[in-house]
Amino acid sequence: MAHAYEALLAEVLIDEARLQRRISELAEQINRDYADCDDLLLLCILKGGVMFLTDLSRKIHIPHMIDFMAASSYGVGARQSSGSVRIDMDLRMDVQGKHVLVVEDIIDSGLTLSFVIKTLENREPASLKLCALLNKQSRREVEIELDYVGFDIENKYVFGYGLDYDEKFRNLPFVGVARGDIPPDA
Ligand code: IMP
Ligand code: MG
Repeated sequence: MAHAYEALLAEVLIDEARLQRRISELAEQINRDYADCDDLLLLCILKGGVMFLTDLSRKIHIPHMIDFMAASSYGVGARQSSGSVRIDMDLRMDVQGKHVLVVEDIIDSGLTLSFVIKTLENREPASLKLCALLNKQSRREVEIELDYVGFDIENKYVFGYGLDYDEKFRNLPFVGVARGDIPPDA
């Protein structure tokens, strides 16, 4: 039987092996950069970042904490950030004095992340760095300096490995391009 996602999938952009190889490289870099750090907090931005967080966390060998935060931009469709961002769910930990590494699935306009950064900076973490699996640089509306990037990708709608197509198919082990590059609510 054909899988339900196949009708939506134009091509596999990054297969499972390539994803995992790159995540191992990022983890090695993080292991080096935070070698002497004993209060590292991986802060996952829900929901898209969850697969990336769990794989990355298992490859980071220095002791660390994890926590979760959900943010969304709203007003326009899934593809277009309106510029209004809200925190749907705040993290439970106090970030003051901790070394925070934000873990995101994809940076598009950058509006969501820049709002999250501002919110966190007000809480005085010891340091704040950003790690994104995917980066759509050509879509950027606000400048963001990413410390760790998995893959730079073109401006196409992608899903799988945490990213949704109409809230589904986050569980796919690869990142795929949507057929016709059509976002689900277009
Ligand atoms: P930004 O505020 O425009 O950077 O929006 C980033 C968020 O939009 C990501 O965290 C995703 O949740 C979502 N997003 C952006 N591009 C895609 C895509 O190609 N597929 C799935 N979700 C996406
Ligand atoms: Mg996200």
